[in-house]
Amino acid sequence: MRLVLTENLKEDMELAKPIYENGNVLLNKGVSNLYKYKRKLLELGIKHLYVEDKYSYDIEINEAIKDSTRRNGKKIVTNTFDRIKNGFIDLNTGDLKNVIEDITDELVLNEDVLLNLVSLKSTSNYTYEHSVNVSVICIALGKMLGYSKSELFKLGMGGMLHDVGKTLIPEEILNKPDKLTDHEYEVIQNHPELGFNYLQQIESISPLSRIVVYSHHERVDGSGYPRGLKGDEIHEFARVAAIADVFDALTSDRVYRDRWPTYKAAEYIMNHTEQLFDYQLVKKFLPQVSFYPNGSEVILSTGHRAVVRTQNVGFPTRPILRLIEDDEGNELDRELDLLKHMNIVITKVIV
Ligand SMILES: [Fe+2]
Repeated sequence: MRLVLTENLKEDMELAKPIYENGNVLLNKGVSNLYKYKRKLLELGIKHLYVEDKYSYDIEINEAIKDSTRRNGKKIVTNTFDRIKNGFIDLNTGDLKNVIEDITDELVLNEDVLLNLVSLKSTSNYTYEHSVNVSVICIALGKMLGYSKSELFKLGMGGMLHDVGKTLIPEEILNKPDKLTDHEYEVIQNHPELGFNYLQQIESISPLSRIVVYSHHERVDGSGYPRGLKGDEIHEFARVAAIADVFDALTSDRVYRDRWPTYKAAEYIMNHTEQLFDYQLVKKFLPQVSFYPNGSEVILSTGHRAVVRTQNVGFPTRPILRLIEDDEGNELDRELDLLKHMNIVITKVIV
């Protein structure tokens, strides 16, 4: 399968993964005539999707965790956040615990050396899907750092709940389409503290998970909030979560902008190392992320158009490609290993 822009759907493309709306299947895997649904998909905020077509036949997308686990996580975090919004303080932490254990187990067993940590989201369900993927990225990075299973679990719980405080902020501020006033911005910046204070009432949530919630907007140069902590004053779990939060936000479609390709998000994180993010953690994280995940469409310095077929481990910028068009628009179908052609580089990511 490969990734395409919904905008660019063509007649010969079949849907490669089901699309869900409110937990129900809206379009099933294998549906053809996809371009007929283009408008509906865009209305739902689905700007990208996985398809099968003549170029994708042997491309495998290596997901960090199972789609079913991701969906289950989204359902549970949605219920949890809704209950909090409605004033309940008896969180059903059993469900949350189970799904974080599933995510941890799957990531611990995942032997892929380069991880595809991007999760495609519809813009309408951003908050919940973002919570799940921050948890996934936190656990993946924690695994790279050699954390124990119990540490991974606590970190993953913190990642899942990092923005829980947003449920306690008025929706008219949270969803305001226009520019926020200074006061409104301050209200939103209260969310780490609100979330932390809320979780203080819930004994079954570890203090280590709560610290992630409290400190995920702290930045290593002291420019973050709520406490303006610096470097090691910020708990390592929260420094991990800061990277996960920003990486996932940048690689997600939002109402006001399209997702950034992975390489660009990785560059952003590198450029802001030591200012915003912990250098040692970034150094562990980025070499294990695939910058051009399988199924991405790219343009090369030769002008050729290509799809990423598979990865060269240890060389995140030099994957193995399938060339699909030459620089004059003539169709091609042959392989190009960028590790064997060091003079050729990827100059643009289409999707
Ligand atoms: Fe946040």
